[in-house]
Amino acid sequence: MSEHNEYDDNAIVNASSNLHMNDLLAMRLSRRQALKGGVGVTATVLLGGLGLTACGGSDSAAGLALGFAAVAKNKNDVVTVPDGYQVSILHALGDPMHYGDSSWQNNGTETADSYNRRIGDGHDGMYYFGLTEDGKYDANRSDRGLLCVNHEYVVQPYGLHPAGITAGASRVASEVEKEIYAHGVSVVEVKRSSGNDMSMVRGSKYNRRITSATEMAFSGPAKGNDGLKTKFSADGTKTRGTNNNCANGYTPWGTYLTCEENWLNVVGRAAGDDALRTAKEVVSLKRYGLTENRKSPYLWDTAGSDDLFARWSSSVVGASAADDYRNTANNFGWVVEIDPFNNTSMPVKRTALGRFNHEGAWPAPAVVGQPIVIYQGDDARNEYIYKFVSKALWSASDVNGGLAAGAKYLDEGTLYVAKFSADGTGTWLELTHGKNGLDASNALYAFENQGDVVINARLAADSLGATKMDRPEWGAVNPLNGEAYMTLTNNSNRVDPTATPTGSQLKPDAANPRYYTDTYTNADNTTKTNKGNPHGHIIRWKENAGSVAATQFAWDIYLFAAENNAAADVNLSGLTAVNDFSSPDGLYFDPRGMLWIQTDDGAYTDVTNCMMLAAVPGKVGDGGKATAAGGTATIKGANATPDSVRRFLVGPKDCEITGVAVTPDGKTMFCNVQHPGENGSLATPSSAWPDSQTSAGSSKRPRSATFIVTRKDGGAIGV
Ligand code: FEO
Ligand code: CA
Ligand code: CA
Ligand code: CA
Repeated sequence: MSEHNEYDDNAIVNASSNLHMNDLLAMRLSRRQALKGGVGVTATVLLGGLGLTACGGSDSAAGLALGFAAVAKNKNDVVTVPDGYQVSILHALGDPMHYGDSSWQNNGTETADSYNRRIGDGHDGMYYFGLTEDGKYDANRSDRGLLCVNHEYVVQPYGLHPAGITAGASRVASEVEKEIYAHGVSVVEVKRSSGNDMSMVRGSKYNRRITSATEMAFSGPAKGNDGLKTKFSADGTKTRGTNNNCANGYTPWGTYLTCEENWLNVVGRAAGDDALRTAKEVVSLKRYGLTENRKSPYLWDTAGSDDLFARWSSSVVGASAADDYRNTANNFGWVVEIDPFNNTSMPVKRTALGRFNHEGAWPAPAVVGQPIVIYQGDDARNEYIYKFVSKALWSASDVNGGLAAGAKYLDEGTLYVAKFSADGTGTWLELTHGKNGLDASNALYAFENQGDVVINARLAADSLGATKMDRPEWGAVNPLNGEAYMTLTNNSNRVDPTATPTGSQLKPDAANPRYYTDTYTNADNTTKTNKGNPHGHIIRWKENAGSVAATQFAWDIYLFAAENNAAADVNLSGLTAVNDFSSPDGLYFDPRGMLWIQTDDGAYTDVTNCMMLAAVPGKVGDGGKATAAGGTATIKGANATPDSVRRFLVGPKDCEITGVAVTPDGKTMFCNVQHPGENGSLATPSSAWPDSQTSAGSSKRPRSATFIVTRKDGGAIGV
């Protein structure tokens, strides 16, 4: 979601008083001891002191080396790639996926209905599935595939419409209808055309839109729960729509996972609604940010009494949950499984994985005979990192098992939340009804059953004392050694560790250690200062005993994002001009084990547009102790070098780079630009991308799009 020069935006609704890491730090390690440790303690000493072993994972860097000239930071209105590389546009907002609809007209005249067959807005998470001639998933297929792309939201300044979003207290129905269909997911067939470049196969039987109105089923522990019941589904087994689909995941059986993040954008609640609710409902609604008298930014519920619009109001208006949409909010925040190979299959919301601002769902590599493990993040300040471990053990015979395989692995299992300890260890705390106080006697919330736990995963995690993080965005698991990475994009809510926090403010802790001030130069040359952790960092962890299903892990901070000229205790990873960046967001290990880091930034955009870096990471424990700006002790990975992290591309103006996929042969890369020109308007657009990529001086409307990067010499990307 856009951040409009405010370096972080998502609402803070976690007011729980968990023990913070700085408290743990005070208990276990005096400040003086921490400082004495300094930087540069070897991995052996550090891990030895923790009773862990530094070996056990293969060296992820083996055989992989970055081999391109770093792209310089810039503010041009194009995607800038290294010398020897080229860019083409695969698809952009409004492009028709089938025959029978006109091409995109650049004037907002496309009909609402046609967006059921056009590419949606706000390109975000993405995955490439190799496709065989007989319509099956083949993880090794590079020349033909199905590309699933999330369409997170409608970019407000342009809004799809002839003259932008029509202002007023009530929305225009035809505009809202178009927006509902422009959200969700697109599935398109892609094929190599010339060389390694690819194009969308217009009219392919696989091409499909899933929108904020598509019927879908609930499965897992919350299926049929009272909290999911609506006028549309009185038994709480179905809903319509997935929306605000941010990041994503995939399964080894060949299905796509799309995740529902900022659904508060489209759900409102009337004044006085608390009085019509049970005390428990009010606690739950508040914890998820849906206070009474809350108008949603998109006001979809104001477009008329038609059920298509009315269902976005979560106000109590009927006699029971079966008579209104009081539970609409509980219908969102989930992981949705889509079978891209079966274009008539009904998507399924897998409730066992929990409900929150669901950023994404990233699987560890599947191992025959071991459970399926999926890491997840809740993107808001002070929220948590989660892990799901399936009950069923992986059998390779389930590849191409579709949603039946999904039911086997994703409907039963154990949900955990992460607690990061100051000594570099961590614990996965189990969110199971009847354990750890998660029952009807719980003081925060009376959990009646596991459905109640997953619907209210945040409250369950509060109750167990999970660690509040600096906005968990994307995760990724290194295919070469199983170590998990997650971006913590930034947090304006970290406060000076010597001050007394008020309200929801947090002091830094070992896993979110920095407190510093960043300077930002506005367009008119005035400056502002951003305080807290404006640039973010990337944490990583290694499960104990080599098992991804373990409940104990070791962690360090892989990279601290920073401007290259920042103070040493801010630029803790030693970034230089070839690899400095701010606000890591998208994250992806390609099949070769190369890591791609994408930015969604409002703290370094005075200097450069958002970007993507390539990295060949080491492993947990390859650095040592450090003291972050503000004085908090932490544990960092080895310093970055131009050989380990390097800027691969810079995006067009006012965009976020988000979503990336690489074919198994490493030769075709898909990447997304979201909301180019978001700080402009229809009258004065600040970008004309993607048209500006090939037409300098273009005045066409900016559009979110998927672009393709290939090497002119036909070689593999990045090496
Ligand atoms: Fe859609 Fe968490 O960014
Ligand atoms: Ca994002
Ligand atoms: Ca700055
Ligand atoms: Ca973001």
